[in-house]
Amino acid sequence: MNGMIVKALVMAGVLIIGTYVVIEQMHIDLSDPINMLTFIGAIAIAVLTFGVAAKYMAQMKNDSASGELTEDNWDGIGEYENPLPSGWAWSFVGTLIWAIWYMLMGYPVNAYSQIGAWNKETKEYNKKFQEKFKTADKDTLKDMGESIFLVQCAPCHGDTGDGMSGKAHDLTHRISKAQVLYVIKNGSHYFKYPLGAMPAGMAQGKDAEDVAAYVAGGLKGKAPTAWATCAGCHGQDGKGNGGQAPNLAHIDSTLIANVLKNGKKGSIGRMPSFANRFTPVQEKALAEYIKSLSSSK
Ligand code: HEC
Ligand code: HEC
Repeated sequence: MNGMIVKALVMAGVLIIGTYVVIEQMHIDLSDPINMLTFIGAIAIAVLTFGVAAKYMAQMKNDSASGELTEDNWDGIGEYENPLPSGWAWSFVGTLIWAIWYMLMGYPVNAYSQIGAWNKETKEYNKKFQEKFKTADKDTLKDMGESIFLVQCAPCHGDTGDGMSGKAHDLTHRISKAQVLYVIKNGSHYFKYPLGAMPAGMAQGKDAEDVAAYVAGGLKGKAPTAWATCAGCHGQDGKGNGGQAPNLAHIDSTLIANVLKNGKKGSIGRMPSFANRFTPVQEKALAEYIKSLSSSK
């Protein structure tokens, strides 16, 4: 074998061993097919680079060139019109194909993703959580609800859920007169109950005042005449007509689920949406806790 080629292969060997040492040091896992393929690629590149370089250097010493010269020459040095060496051309095409494969299917697009792993683990954990607390009793749910409430809701609604002097809805009461008046005047279109939006202007002047006082007072005593309009959708007892419209008598689970999903903007301000933030069990727990806030009064 030509001495030059032997030297080249030795160089390639050194490079491959060097690469392998780095792989070991960085604890790169060669049982991963993409890592292995990349390593094989590195070996091929090392062998080809030194092999081809050696071949041509040896050729340059012995060969005499032939072929047709181009028209240009520089100080008597001319250039042959020979085609690209086919090996070089094919490896160029191969590099392009490999680059596209690497970008679309290999790393980094298809790589391990921290976000993906987090999502997967959270999903698995939530499933376990859901299983474990599927049949939890009221007290367990209430305790769970309280701890979620203190972290997620208390910053606006206050530790006791009283709305911190009007900064958010006072959850110990169903609704205030000002809030009802605001809805009567402006309508409401946040919750997505089967009846859809509530149109603005359902009552005017004194009728509106009376009906608002009646609702805010917990629907007690004799209903004012204008209540007939409201009852058409909210039910005679104000309990929402079997889920068609909000229950105006109590904060119930449907209302909590709706406000968590859609958020709302009313006379006090904006309640952000918590869509997809809680598991069904957690939502049930929050509802249980919030219901307990008003029933304890
Ligand atoms: C056409 C049916 C309809 C009529 C009539 C109606 N409502 Fe409503 N009301 C709804 C619907 C539906 C919602 C929920 C709207 C939403 O998605 O935000 C609602 C929401 C409300 C809310 C907001 C509840 C909350 O928790 O924020 C109040 C208060 C209210 N209505 C009071 C009244 C009063 C008082 C009357 C009578 C003057 C009345 N409604 C008449 C359908 C109606
Ligand atoms: C960024 C502040 C904020 C946070 C956090 C917040 N809320 Fe609210 N919430 C509000 C405001 C403001 C209102 C009153 C909106 C209005 O009617 O003007 C409200 C209203 C409500 C209502 C009454 C809806 C109605 O119209 O009858 C419920 C129930 C509620 N929030 C539950 C929760 C729960 C449960 C959490 C925690 C998961 C929570 N909120 C977190 C600001 C907040």
